[in-house]
Amino acid sequence: MRDSRAWTRREFLGHAAIASASLALLNGCGPKRSSGRGYRLPGVDVSGSHSLKAHAMDARMLFGFAVNTQKLRDDAAYRSLVEQQCSIIVAENAMKWHALRPAMDQFSFADADALVEFASHRHIRLRGHNLCWHEALPEWFAKQVTPVNARQLLRDHIRTVAGRYSGRIHSWDVVNEAIEVKDGRPDSLRNTPWLQMIGTDYIEMAFRVARDSDPSALLTYNEYGIEQETQEAAMKRAAVLLMLRRLKQRNVPLDAVGIQSHLQAQSVNGYGAGLQRFVQDCREMGLEVFITELDVNDRTLPSDVETRDIGVANRYRSYLDLLLPERNVTAVLTWGVFDAGTWLNNGKDRAREDGSPQRPLLFDDHLRAKPAFVAVRDAFDARRQAGVLRGTPLSQKPLPKL
Ligand code: XIL
Repeated sequence: MRDSRAWTRREFLGHAAIASASLALLNGCGPKRSSGRGYRLPGVDVSGSHSLKAHAMDARMLFGFAVNTQKLRDDAAYRSLVEQQCSIIVAENAMKWHALRPAMDQFSFADADALVEFASHRHIRLRGHNLCWHEALPEWFAKQVTPVNARQLLRDHIRTVAGRYSGRIHSWDVVNEAIEVKDGRPDSLRNTPWLQMIGTDYIEMAFRVARDSDPSALLTYNEYGIEQETQEAAMKRAAVLLMLRRLKQRNVPLDAVGIQSHLQAQSVNGYGAGLQRFVQDCREMGLEVFITELDVNDRTLPSDVETRDIGVANRYRSYLDLLLPERNVTAVLTWGVFDAGTWLNNGKDRAREDGSPQRPLLFDDHLRAKPAFVAVRDAFDARRQAGVLRGTPLSQKPLPKL
């Protein structure tokens, strides 16, 4: 087993060549390096027992992608990659308020329904994302929602949506991103429209209604900005833990924490013991941890694609090496299927300075596996080999009946 130091390009090529020697070829391209721009992994088999879901399962984990429902419907290659690699998926946008609520008195379920059908018929677990967030609110929200009707509106939304898919969802992100230390409140709660209109108990209410509406879904609190070894992230972790403890003390139904994990390829402080401790603190509270939105922003890496792909892969590997030894970490999902679909190209603060498209995911624009694919698969193998796992975590419970 290799140690967890960073890969060089030569090591990646060597590793991939060994992996490919007796295996079928990746997406039809042979073991030769393809000519043309950039680095291509020489034929690594990504199918069947070589897929991420297979390696994850051997490590008692789930692996998956955030999916674009339109691409899933229209693009057969995209669809088969999802089927091949995923034991769990999540809608990148299709279950958010703005997708489900064209008007205050209306729901639009077509895309979400199709996704639920897709997942259940292929025995792929489905995460629900999300029931309560300060973003992705429909346009009518600001005009029509008031302190008088907000509580009822949130309650009805959760009842309707979680109730509709009851028994078919692995886990719901019930509340997304509710902590913001910078907002300056003593409890570090983010000053969201929900907080302003309902009060601090909106979180507790959302979890209770979610449990009543779908008793079999694991209920998750999902957060970002808690990953790095910075003072800011440490304060946010502490605030999240405090909130989770308070919820637990009040017997609020809560099963898991989602660590979004939108990572930086180059980070001054890096990722380390603070985050590991956070995961352990979650375990002491009886909480599973899902890595829910993993991707690696390469904005500060050089333009050269080969260098970037190795840098991104090394970040995936070191991050997972940090967290996968923790046995309450039970699922890894990347935020997108392939580079061309990444959300990171939108928005100035996320996009690359040189204007070239980001390469943050495991598959390239042509759905070919990148070094990061090998990095993630190796991280699953390392977890399996370390043998830290006993018992069956909750999220591995049998799939609900169709
Ligand atoms: C992002 C989507 O990827 C984009 O397509 C959309 O325009 C905005 O939202 N944290 C979350 C996700 O919880 O829902 C966000 O998804 C990314 C950050």
